[in-house]
Amino acid sequence: MATEITASSGDISNQEIDAIIVNLFEGVTAPAGATGVVDSKLNGAISELIAGSDLSGKYLDVSALYPRDQIPARRVLIVGLGKQEKFTLDRARRAAAAAIEKAHALGAQSAATIVHGAGIGGLDPEAAARAVAEGTALGLYTYDVHKSSTPERKAMEQVRIVEFYETKGAAVSRGVEQGAKIAECANFARDLVNSPPNECTPTYLAAKAEQIAAAFGGNVNIIEMPEMRELGMGALLSVTEGSDEPAKFIIFEHNPTALEEAPIIFVGKAVTFDTGGYSLKPSQSMAEMKTDMGGGAAVLGAMRAAATLNIQRRVIGIIPAVENMVSGRASRPSDVVKASNGKTIEIISTDAEGRMILADALIYAARYNPAAVIDLATLTGAAMIALGRGGAAALFSTQDDLSARLLQASSQSGERVWQLPLYEEYTEWMRRSEVADLLNSPNDRYAGTGTSAAFLQEFASEYPWAHLDIAPMAYLPKGTPVRRMGAAGATGYGVRLLAYYLLGNS
Ligand code: BES
Ligand code: MN
Ligand code: ZN
Repeated sequence: MATEITASSGDISNQEIDAIIVNLFEGVTAPAGATGVVDSKLNGAISELIAGSDLSGKYLDVSALYPRDQIPARRVLIVGLGKQEKFTLDRARRAAAAAIEKAHALGAQSAATIVHGAGIGGLDPEAAARAVAEGTALGLYTYDVHKSSTPERKAMEQVRIVEFYETKGAAVSRGVEQGAKIAECANFARDLVNSPPNECTPTYLAAKAEQIAAAFGGNVNIIEMPEMRELGMGALLSVTEGSDEPAKFIIFEHNPTALEEAPIIFVGKAVTFDTGGYSLKPSQSMAEMKTDMGGGAAVLGAMRAAATLNIQRRVIGIIPAVENMVSGRASRPSDVVKASNGKTIEIISTDAEGRMILADALIYAARYNPAAVIDLATLTGAAMIALGRGGAAALFSTQDDLSARLLQASSQSGERVWQLPLYEEYTEWMRRSEVADLLNSPNDRYAGTGTSAAFLQEFASEYPWAHLDIAPMAYLPKGTPVRRMGAAGATGYGVRLLAYYLLGNS
């Protein structure tokens, strides 16, 4: 059962609940606001800890106090917000995640938290409430559906996000409601990315799309392989040929009847397992390749968000879903195939499969005369080399207005992007085939992310387009030294970015 996250008004110190969460900026010696109220009810226990340097307010440090009968709650957690001048909306979100993870680890099954940043933090109360609700739901995320033993910790049943000032109540309620929904969609995408590749096949993703549409609204159409052949999707088909799992071309329409409106289209790479094909990956790099459908998962999560947030715009999600395997039918390096717009591609590496399936998807998107197309893909290892695990997704765009809107959504969602150039030279390199119009991979290692984007651009010429290489962000395994909210592994990256993009453009 998912945790129930609700807004409520009142005084946090009076909550009858397993744990209450307050906060502290680094360097503050006399806590004010809600933390100050709790401090005085505890006869100055918090200020005493600060004075004894047991408590500093350092960013993401969480301390616990056990007040016995001074207040009704059994535990008081104090989360550090760091230095006030460095405070941001995303710090409020991550503080909420750290605090609730700690509360859960201590055994609390219910908690109440204040809205970090809505007081002296100076954030807009609605945005802060949204961030705190998101951080709470993301921080509680675990993936244990395939564990046969029951988890050691009992589930967190409810979290109340408490606002003292009635004037802010409506804004906080709106924010909490939206934030909880957005995080639920991100956690849904995390489940898909974490699920093993024998379960999460193209067929499974198609079924999930249909379930979402049935539960939350929307219209799903699945293009099967015979129709892909009729459409001439030779680039996509070249990837799936080696697999026994049928490919699925998933089209998810939100507000499907608004036909007069130019839609926003999201395209997501869904390679449910990427062995590399005959350009076989070494086992170390193959290990993580169940996550190669992270773009598709993000788009499904974003479509669910479009439905649950009741976005007024026409939005379409397109998810080419395949498995990249080896067999007697699989593509060979040096095969030449033809995409559905007639362009021919020489396959240099069967491991450069993502751009092949995206090529046919980007061509397909043009038929809707879209206002904008944004694709998300775990496309290149080079993006991880450039930006680092958990650093940022690489952003490319053919239209400044579109990249500006994505940068705006990035700062609101905390899902970082970093723009890279689409130089003409990259396109020239990709056109150096002796036998076809394009190479699917340059024969060197230089600008691997840029050349992949230049390849995609050849198929995305008819509309404003942005490409996000999310390989650095989709999956952050245990042991990588990066901050994350909730369990290691899938992050659901892209769902929140796209949800905020839609909230800002509908
Ligand atoms: N799915 C991989 C990219 C990837 C690597 C994602 C590591 C996440 C973690 C993609 O299909 C791939 O194999 N790309 C090749 C491209 C090359 C052959 C031009 C790569 O990055 O090596
Ligand atoms: Mn690959
Ligand atoms: Zn791949």
